Parts: sequence; C-alpha cells; structure tokens
Amino acid sequence: HHIHYLKEASSSNEVGKRLADQGCADGLVVVAEEQTHGKGRLSRGWFSPMGCGVWCSVVFRPPFMPSEASKCTLLAAVAVIKAINKYKGVNAKIKWPNDVLLEGKKMVGILTEMSAEFGKINYIVIGTGINTNVPKSMIPDELKDLAISVADVAREPIQRVQILADYLKNMEDLYETVLREGFGPVLDEWRTYSDTIGQAVKVIAPDKTYFGTAVDIDKEGLLIVKKEDGTMEKVIAGDVSI
Ligand code: BTN
Repeated sequence: HHIHYLKEASSSNEVGKRLADQGCADGLVVVAEEQTHGKGRLSRGWFSPMGCGVWCSVVFRPPFMPSEASKCTLLAAVAVIKAINKYKGVNAKIKWPNDVLLEGKKMVGILTEMSAEFGKINYIVIGTGINTNVPKSMIPDELKDLAISVADVAREPIQRVQILADYLKNMEDLYETVLREGFGPVLDEWRTYSDTIGQAVKVIAPDKTYFGTAVDIDKEGLLIVKKEDGTMEKVIAGDVSI
C-alpha cells in the first residue's frame, strides 16, 4: 500500500477522492491523525479528535459493476472487525450494512463513496473511523451514549498502528479472495459477525418506514426483511435499527 499520512485533514475521504480524481493508484491509503470535518453516513458528522482513532480511507479501483460497490463496504466491515476483535475483551458485531457495535454503541463507522461512469466503477473510497481511544470526557454530550472505544473494553494495551496494519492486511486478503472466488466467502464471514440477522428491525428507507425481522443478506449484500404482513422486502438504502 502507498500510505498518505496527514497530521490533519478535513476528511480523509475528501482527500482520497481528490487523489483518486487526480489518478492515484489502486490501494492508496489516506490516514489522518485528526479530521476537522469528519463525515458520517446520511450527512452526519464523525467526531475525529487528534490521536484518538484510526481515521483512514482506502482508494479502490475494482473491476466490478457499480452495483457491487456495497459489497466492498461489507468486505471492509469484516476486515475491520477481525482487526479489533483480536483484542481480549473485544467482541464487536456488525449491524447491517457496516456499523461495528459493541454493547449497542458504535466502535467503527464506514463511509463508502463511489465515482462511476459508463456503467463502470472509476473508484471507490472506503473511509473507516475506528474509535480506538476517544476519552469519554472529550465526547460531545449528544454522542456520549452512542460511541465506544476499543480501549474502553480491551483487557490489554492497544496500538493504533497495529490495528491499522491488521485492517489493511485483512482487507487485502479478503479482496484477493473476492477476485479468486467472488463475494460468497466474504458474505459468509460477514454473516458470522452479524448482529442484525434474526433480529426484529425497524427499517427507515428513503421512501417508507416499516417493521419486520431481518432474515438474511442476499448475494448482493442487501438485507432481506420479512415484514409484519409476511411479505419479503430487500433493503437497498436507509437505516436499520434493532
Ligand atoms: C458512519 O458510521 O456514519 C460512517 C463514519 C465514517 C467515518 C470515517 S473516518 C475516516 C473517513 N473520513 C471521513 O470523513 N469519514 C470516514
């Protein structure tokens, strides 16, 4: 990997997209010690204080259709959870599609952004925010109950650089698996870490809200929900709460 290290960035995803637009190589990694305008999903922000997390983005130029980009996000979720669950006491789960939670609080968030043209992916930027050691005292009040750091629960010392290295290595291994065998094995691994499948869920889709039970993900990585009236619905976009 080529690593682009920054003391400060507005958002590593923004930097990644700019470098990708300028033609950077596949696999470029942007890491920032601090983000002044960290971005979350659904136009939310991402609290990214200096030295308290792994705030990074990876530029991919995969030979996939744009419709497959969301599976790359699932891949990233598996790669990151394997890197943090190595620590004693850390047993995070994935909430579909890509929130990594412990005790219902967010330890990792992933934001994927894509540029596609003529039915092909130009690049995707997978941004990952891993709360490694955000002190409780620093967290804004409205986020206090929503966030958790690896260091809050790990029963051994943690190192940000080790987590980043493991994450990138896992990503590479999983990506090679996909190129060889397709997404099947990655989706199977994703299922083993899922906290969503089998649960009663509330789905807030762009056009409607409904309740049901999450039964599985399909081969495209979409969540399959059995609604209260017994019919099945696939969730393409939106928020799912357990
Ligand atoms: C979410 O759960 O809402 C997604 C959060 C993604 C945060 C990461 S931190 C590194 C990268 N740069 C950003 O601005 N956002 C992502």
